[in-house]
Amino acid sequence: MPKIAIYPGSFDPVTNGHLDIIERGLKLFDKIIIAILINPGKQFLFTLEERMQMLEVCLKKFSNVEIDTFNGLTVDYAAQRNAQGILRGLRALSDFEYEFQMALMNRRLNRDVQTVFLMTGMRWIYTSSSIIKEAAQFGGNIKGMVPPLVEKKIKEKYARNS
Ligand code: PNS
Repeated sequence: MPKIAIYPGSFDPVTNGHLDIIERGLKLFDKIIIAILINPGKQFLFTLEERMQMLEVCLKKFSNVEIDTFNGLTVDYAAQRNAQGILRGLRALSDFEYEFQMALMNRRLNRDVQTVFLMTGMRWIYTSSSIIKEAAQFGGNIKGMVPPLVEKKIKEKYARNS
């Protein structure tokens, strides 16, 4: 049976930190399904379609990575996709409490799905989609933190919004 992991998140937008987790996750799993949560209650910089498109371009070299969207609980989506794992990245200590809480709740909801944490590479330890967007919004240089296509899209977005 192929080992499948769901990598859930908002991906607003995908960063080099996310890509690092995906590449390393592929050493453990035969297939990774990137699952973007459909969350109408939250404000995003990029639409769902834009976020999917950026992920598709950045990950086109991997035939064993799929990009999808989902509603509801991650564990239910994982079961529906026959995935045994939920993949998440851990950066600084500040991530730990939220991730630990979520992993324990997910385990309570479905004991057959295991959360697997990968430590983010040192280079990405302080990067997040939010901090990158904030820097870019005020003209900060975000080169090397996101793929070049994403850097271009973020710049376009803020140029349009200003
Ligand atoms: O990239 P993010 O925003 O940190 O991702 C958060 C995400 C999508 C992984 C989390 O909010 C999630 O799994 N939401 C779906 C609902 C769910 O299953 N919540 C956890 C147990 S209640």
